[in-house]
Amino acid sequence: MLNGKTAVVTGASRGIGKAISLCLARAGADLALIYAGSKEAAEGVCKEAKKLGAKAISYQCNVADWSQSKAVCDAITQDFSTVDILVNNAGATQDNLIVRMSEEDFDAVIGVNLKGAFNFTRHLARALMKSSSGRIINITSVSGLMGNPGQANYSAAKAGVIGLTKTVAKELAARGVTCNAVAPGFIQTDMTASLPQAVKDYAHTATPLRRMGSADEVAETVAFLASSQSSYITGEVIRVDGGLCM
Ligand code: NAI
Repeated sequence: MLNGKTAVVTGASRGIGKAISLCLARAGADLALIYAGSKEAAEGVCKEAKKLGAKAISYQCNVADWSQSKAVCDAITQDFSTVDILVNNAGATQDNLIVRMSEEDFDAVIGVNLKGAFNFTRHLARALMKSSSGRIINITSVSGLMGNPGQANYSAAKAGVIGLTKTVAKELAARGVTCNAVAPGFIQTDMTASLPQAVKDYAHTATPLRRMGSADEVAETVAFLASSQSSYITGEVIRVDGGLCM
C-alpha cells in the first residue's frame, strides 16, 4: 500500500509515534524517525522497522528549534529519494492552572506541539510537493477541540495545530498534498501513565466506549490518512477518542 513511499515521523521513539512508525512500515513505507533524547529507543524502533523490510534511519532533533529542524530535514531529503508522508506527532505537556502557569511552561509547550509542526511542515513542504501523493498528518488532541482545565498551553497549541492543518491543506491542495489532523482522546502511553488515578477514572466514565484507546488505534487512522484510500480528504480533523468529544 505504501511501498516506495518515505514517511517522516516526529516523536517516533515511543508511544503513539512508535506505533505510527511501525504501522507505516508494515504498510510498506520507509522511515525517517525523529527523536528528542533516547537514541537507544529510536534505534530500537529502527531495528523493528527493518525487520518489517523498511529502510529506517533515526535523527536526533528538538522539533521546536528552527535551525535543528532545517538541518535534519535537509539530511532526510539527501538520505531518501522522496519524502511523501510527514507525521507531526512530537508533543509534550506542562500542565498547570492558568493562574499558576509560567511563561516558560507556556512557551515550551507551544514550541514542541505547534512550532514543531510548523518547522517540519515548512522545511519539508517543497519535498512533499514533489511527491506524487504528499500527505501531512498532524497529531492534535481533543484538548484542542474542547479545552481542558490545567492545559491552557497545550489546548492552545493543539487548537493552533488545527488552524495550521486547515491553512496548509488549502495552500498545498493545488500541488496534490493533503493535510489532515488526528485528535486522540485518552490513549494509554507514557503521557497518560502519570495522570492521577482520579483523571484515569474520569477517562473511563467520560468516554462513551468506557476505556482508554491504544496507540495502535491512533496509528491505524494515521495509516489510512497516509494511504491512497484517503485521497479526497483534506483539512479534516478525525477524532480517535471513543466518543469523548461529541
Ligand atoms: P509520549 O510522551 O509517549 O511521546 C511524545 C514523543 O514526543 C516522545 O517520543 C518525545 O521524546 C517526543 N518529543 C517531546 N518533545 C520533543 C521535542 N522537543 N523534539 C522532538 N521530540 C519531542 O506521548 P504520546 O502519548 O505518544 O503522544 C504523541 C502525540 O499524541 C503527542 O502530540 C500528544 O500531544 C498527542 N496526544 C496524546 C494523547 C494521549 O492520551 N496519550 C491524547 C491526545 C493527543
